[in-house]
Amino acid sequence: MRRFSFALAPAALLTAALLTASTAAVAADAPKDLVEYRQRVMSALGGHTGAIAAMVKQQVSYDHIEAQADALAATAPVVGDLFPENSGPGDYAETDALPAIWEKPAEFQAAVEQFEKAAAAFPAAAESGDRATILEAFKALGGSCGNCHETFRADD
Ligand code: HEC
Repeated sequence: MRRFSFALAPAALLTAALLTASTAAVAADAPKDLVEYRQRVMSALGGHTGAIAAMVKQQVSYDHIEAQADALAATAPVVGDLFPENSGPGDYAETDALPAIWEKPAEFQAAVEQFEKAAAAFPAAAESGDRATILEAFKALGGSCGNCHETFRADD
């Protein structure tokens, strides 16, 4: 019985935490939280892309390229949601997002779409197992990250 009640307690706590979180989400998200969430998602993209690069460059012989490609493609569609009005440098200074994102929405949207297309196409290339096909798709993918960063992200 002791073990049972021990197992229940964390579940109850988790439920309470989730309820609190969903109530909080009804209020406007704070700029700091929006920026930090965006940076975490970007870091995830960076992680998958870096892992793919290590395999493409044959630094490691892992056969994980499909898993990394799928994770990247699954995450890509959220990128367009990461830039709400109240998450710019005027709202929270610790961001590298440039005002151009909100000043040139059509150009920014085009950069998002170029990336989404490259990310969506990558799993099929990874699955092909053909090195030239993978390299070409990876160049398009990396190019789509760089294309957006060049215009819309501050240099570190
Ligand atoms: C449509 C624009 C856009 C695309 C596409 C994009 N990024 Fe970003 N990325 C940004 C912006 C803007 C920031 C700065 C975010 C901030 O500081 O609020 C950023 C930040 C980052 C960061 C730093 C995160 C941190 O911890 O501060 C990494 C890493 C990153 N991007 C990797 C990638 C990779 C890899 C890809 C492609 C697979 C990619 N990004 C695609 C716009 C983009």
